[in-house]
Amino acid sequence: HGYDAPRPNHAQDRAAEQAVELAVDESLPIPAFANEPDTNAALPANQAWARAAIATATPQWLAAQAVPPVVAEDEVDALVARARSAAAEWSARPAAERAAILYRTADILARRRGHLVSLAAAEAGKAVAQTDPEVSEAIDFARYYAHRALELDSTAAAFTPDRVVVVTPPWNFPIAIPAGGTFAALAAGAAVIHKPSKPTPHCSMAVLEALWEAGVPRDVCQGVFPDEGPAGRALISHPDVDRIILTGASETAALFTSWREELRINAETSGKNSLIVTPSADRDLAIADLAHSAFGHAGQKCSAASLGILVGSTYDSKRFRRQLVDAAASMVVDWPSNLSATVGPLTEDPSDKLLRALTTLEPGESWLLKPRKLDDTGRLWSPGIKDGVAPGTFFHLTECFGPVLGLMRAENLNEAIELQNATDFGLTAGLHSLEPREVRSWLDRVQAGNVYVNRGITGAIVRRQPFGGWKKSSVGLGSKAGGPNYLMLFGSWADRAGQV
Ligand code: SER
Repeated sequence: HGYDAPRPNHAQDRAAEQAVELAVDESLPIPAFANEPDTNAALPANQAWARAAIATATPQWLAAQAVPPVVAEDEVDALVARARSAAAEWSARPAAERAAILYRTADILARRRGHLVSLAAAEAGKAVAQTDPEVSEAIDFARYYAHRALELDSTAAAFTPDRVVVVTPPWNFPIAIPAGGTFAALAAGAAVIHKPSKPTPHCSMAVLEALWEAGVPRDVCQGVFPDEGPAGRALISHPDVDRIILTGASETAALFTSWREELRINAETSGKNSLIVTPSADRDLAIADLAHSAFGHAGQKCSAASLGILVGSTYDSKRFRRQLVDAAASMVVDWPSNLSATVGPLTEDPSDKLLRALTTLEPGESWLLKPRKLDDTGRLWSPGIKDGVAPGTFFHLTECFGPVLGLMRAENLNEAIELQNATDFGLTAGLHSLEPREVRSWLDRVQAGNVYVNRGITGAIVRRQPFGGWKKSSVGLGSKAGGPNYLMLFGSWADRAGQV
């Protein structure tokens, strides 16, 4: 891949490769973890790198990339049996060996950044500026879970990993989320059956190929598409599958759990997220964070800000609204061949819920910025901001997953928190306030898995902001992705004497 030349602002792979050698030598300390830097898009050399990468992403090029095989219902038993027997060998290896393979996987992904960015552009229409941090996140997942596997291995407790884990990622983070669940299960010692999201199989394949190349045996990590018939159900509800890792809609989690009573599932699902801005906030920062959290990747993030809850004089300020509208209108909406784009197309045709949000107003609402359909595909929409969203209405409570932000007025912080907590979901939430008492009061009461103060509410960073939801935004999650305890989900612990 000529276009995969390392970007000039990145350190070469040498340091990471040395870390692999350290990791397999058990007499030496565990390598420290550091987050992988994103590409510095301001450097002309990196702009040239991104242009070259994106130019490869033609439909013909995409069609030539490998995709996982389709399996029929009658092949599922054999698939699971292969994984189960491979797991015995994989879990028997020293943790240091599994970690070394993950460190190597991270290096391969780092070298293929351009390839990964172009796959996400071709399959999901994801803008370079949005995919680039995702590649860093995938690299972080590999190194962080390797690091934690080594740390956990050095504790006094014994860990019995799950044997077979099915990972079912979404299409909106087509690199990082497929990578995260798969790497964690492998680091813990389980075998993985990876079922890509329908729109983004090549992105998933690129992650799996990096693993195989790094040394994960094919049967330890298999990528498959259950066919359109009953094969999906046969796989998810298979008695020899120990755990399902799902990131997707709440409805999918409900469907999976309806298929098998004792299903062990860890699912991160829908959200209806809001950011509160109080009169004490740094308004410029709040506006930038609201716009980016609402419209980045056209709002197709479970973490996206769908509501701005503005307190008192912030809501009443004409200047605040004008600046917010200007900020949203100045975002570049385009297909990924435009490197300046941050608001790309919708990956799929808009759902009925999203069309309702984009094209209609509920009683009391008005458009501050009316969304426009920008081309004939029906997938490229400019950002929309609707004002006057009333408590308890469709837009207050429903996840729409697209480039629409609603504004609500709260008289004071208490009322704002009530509006924020009123939804069934609890994934991300934000507060912009420079008043410490407000921050403390909010932190005590906000009901969300990821809470951010004076920051946007998307783009959790591995280890710094472990990611996971609360209320209806999660099913069976006891610990968060990218956090110190995530690996412990994938099995059971006993002390060395065998006490559970
Ligand atoms: N981890 C992503 C974010 O924080 C969402 O899945 O935006």
